[in-house]
Amino acid sequence: MQDVPDPFREARRAGPVMKCPFHGEDITMILRHGDVRAAAKDWQTYSSDAPFRVPIPSEEKVRSIRQLPIETDPPEHTEWRAIVNPFFQQAKEPEYIARVESLINDLLDHALKKETLEVVGELALPYQSRALTYLLKVPESEANTWIDWGVHVFRGEGGTFKKGIVLEDYLNEQFDRAEKKPGEDFFSALVQANFQGRPLTREEMLGFGNLTFAGGRDTIIHNVSSIIAYFNEHPSQLSFLREEPKRLIHATEEFIRAYMPLTQIGRVCPVDTNVLGTPVKAGERIGLGWAPANFDEAVFDDPETIDLARKPNPHLSFGFGKHLCLGAAHARLLIRILLKALSERIEGIEVIEAKANIEHEKSFDRANGFDSLMVALTARV
Ligand code: HEM
Repeated sequence: MQDVPDPFREARRAGPVMKCPFHGEDITMILRHGDVRAAAKDWQTYSSDAPFRVPIPSEEKVRSIRQLPIETDPPEHTEWRAIVNPFFQQAKEPEYIARVESLINDLLDHALKKETLEVVGELALPYQSRALTYLLKVPESEANTWIDWGVHVFRGEGGTFKKGIVLEDYLNEQFDRAEKKPGEDFFSALVQANFQGRPLTREEMLGFGNLTFAGGRDTIIHNVSSIIAYFNEHPSQLSFLREEPKRLIHATEEFIRAYMPLTQIGRVCPVDTNVLGTPVKAGERIGLGWAPANFDEAVFDDPETIDLARKPNPHLSFGFGKHLCLGAAHARLLIRILLKALSERIEGIEVIEAKANIEHEKSFDRANGFDSLMVALTARV
């Protein structure tokens, strides 16, 4: 049984890399689990010190500022990352967990009153946005603005990026406010922060803000919609989770492995490099193939099947090495609490209409979440 078809299966069997043409660039994507991990750790050979070029496709045309801390290398990266790290550690605190639990229960109360629910706009987006207010320590009402931006504020149809004017204006307003009257929130922390003994420039503050909003949005939304659709195909798995709450932990990891929303992330080779037998010139990019690595049969048995009890599960969905996802604890919490609430409260999920989001590239087509997903939920009685 194939739950998630892997478009990289044959390429990964044939060799360690594959060429991916992207907007005039020929990116060498590393495919195998061990090779991706080794490359992710080796920042001297595969550098992130490349503004706009860590995401694939690159984002020169859609933003004017370097994202922080992701588009930097050690040792600077370590200091940049430390500035925002405390915000991302909260996800382990009991009070924070209780807030997320109460949030999903409110959203399910609302959803269960409706005959049909459009999961992307009515569940995933508000869940992601409201939970982000907890992480950033801003009033929950701020989420209303973020929800009003809609799902496609950063991405247009077909996965193309839009210029982030809405976001940049919003971030500037928040930094202006924080400069006048600082509080305990994320924006205030940045206006008061120091890097190598000097305050941050506005551009640097925007670089942190841009990544936090853009990086934590589609990733969570795609995961949530994919999980909801999975239970339409596998209704018995809701009771499987309900029977033994410890299963939630393994199930969370497995969904995050299988529904990895970021196919690959870029690095630049500072000098001519032999990448597992393929020459890459100085200044050219490689891709760390997180999604292909998550389906490497040398590491994961039957990788195209979702096994909610899979253990161990050394997936690379949150990256590897110095840039390991700062939002990982928050993202894991959101998925685990979603699964808990669904298993406790929902008997069945029926998909009524689905518009899959497909990444169409020259070298692969990959399903990644949904543009829209209409479902009917049946409550447990
Ligand atoms: C970094 C994936 C959710 C913020 C990363 C990286 C990956 C990733 C693969 C490593 C990038 C690299 O090596 O260049 C994911 C996935 C998520 C998720 C799959 C959800 C399922 C979030 C959320 C936030 C976030 C919710 C914030 C609210 C960040 C930040 C970094 C990062 C700030 C940069 C860390 C650094 O450079 O040190 N993420 N992410 N992520 N992520 Fe996430």
